[in-house]
Amino acid sequence: MTDRYGPPRFSRSGLRGLKPSATLSLNDRVREMWGLGLDVYHLGFGESRFPVHPKIAEALRANVHQRSYLPAMGIWELRETIAGFYHRKFRMDVSPDQVVTGPGSKSLLYALVLALGEELILPQPSWVSYASQAHMVGKPVNWVPTRPDRDYVLDIGDLLRVMEDSRDNWGNPEVLVLNSPNNPTGTMLSPDAVRALAEFAREQRLMVLSDEIYALTAHCQVPHVSPAQHYPEGTVALGGLSKHLSLGGWRFGLAILPPGPAGEALRQALGCIAGSIWSCVAAPVQYAALVAYSDDPDVDNYIDQCTRMHSIRTHYLYQGLVEAGVPCVEPSGGFYVFPSFDRWKDPLAERDVHTADDLAMYLLENYQLATLPGSAFGCPPEELCLRLSSSYLDTESEEKVASLVEVFTQDPDPARFIENHHPQTREATTRIAEFVADLRYE
Ligand SMILES: Cc1ncc(COP(=O)(O)O)c(C=O)c1O
Repeated sequence: MTDRYGPPRFSRSGLRGLKPSATLSLNDRVREMWGLGLDVYHLGFGESRFPVHPKIAEALRANVHQRSYLPAMGIWELRETIAGFYHRKFRMDVSPDQVVTGPGSKSLLYALVLALGEELILPQPSWVSYASQAHMVGKPVNWVPTRPDRDYVLDIGDLLRVMEDSRDNWGNPEVLVLNSPNNPTGTMLSPDAVRALAEFAREQRLMVLSDEIYALTAHCQVPHVSPAQHYPEGTVALGGLSKHLSLGGWRFGLAILPPGPAGEALRQALGCIAGSIWSCVAAPVQYAALVAYSDDPDVDNYIDQCTRMHSIRTHYLYQGLVEAGVPCVEPSGGFYVFPSFDRWKDPLAERDVHTADDLAMYLLENYQLATLPGSAFGCPPEELCLRLSSSYLDTESEEKVASLVEVFTQDPDPARFIENHHPQTREATTRIAEFVADLRYE
């Protein structure tokens, strides 16, 4: 029958320009290489891998019988609990009405990109999915370059210039995306920078999409501040359980909508989108999330402990880069660093490495280091930046992560934690230093 009629036909218009997520594709490739028995040091995937906290695991188990569809925005009790959590942790005055939940913050972000404004403004570099989601819903992106010597903070003058250029060309940039702590740079916006950007957004009547998924993994002295603290009427803050509680696969995300009419309009739009696509967050996960956002001191301590472990592991990688002479801004949250290899352009060109993609491939083939090129985050391809993530090394199996938590509880000394329990992290750092030395001396 197939021969007679040929394969099914559908127009390509829906597929045009779609690219697989760079992070997920790299992850598949590394798994393939592991499957072939090759040693690969996986610095490419940003997944927090610590164990599920026992109280949250117990809540999920106890609610496995919850099988009905729940309200699209989440059960009321959960929305109340999350509002309380944001008040306690971030001093934000949030009413439960403003809280919406979804299957991961990525899905909520997609719904918001669909619902909000004509064009996006993105810092360059930015996390992979913002631009690809904008592309999917047919919205143009205006990139604003940022600089490592300014810790990748958006400059208001640059922002204004990009917006004016867009408007001069009949564009309408209406949505500013911010992300602190940041993926891919690992940096955080200072409270002053957040205030300045929030004030600018208010003056320009922009909506701010503030991706704060790493907020509880901040590990510097400066506290995390949300633009919603300064500009609540024009900010949507996004969060979830994927990073600070290592529950990425449970798919739980949330958005704090603005109070007042903007928030009300957005809630209705999100209700329609959720109702037509995902209906609600999986019922048992909503009940488990109640515990994750409760005031439980055990859960709070666990979040702090995981953040300290991420900090030690990420700083070790950062220190290794600095000692090897690789320019890199010090990380202050999450588990990423974003080094530049631009100063070795000439010796790299001799090895036929001209772009960040070439560089990532060269490191994978020759040093078994899996990294992501800066181009995946919107950087020009010829800028030789890479994103390295500390989160996957030495956490490959359930046994390893469980033992990391156990040994860190007994002895939180950073040097011993790395020396005695992080062979992969140490080896990956050594290989980076070897690579740099090879570039210098060959
Ligand atoms: C900056 C950023 N935002 C959002 C997400 C998605 O998180 P979620 O698991 O809540 O969809 C990620 C995950 O990698 C991320 O790095």
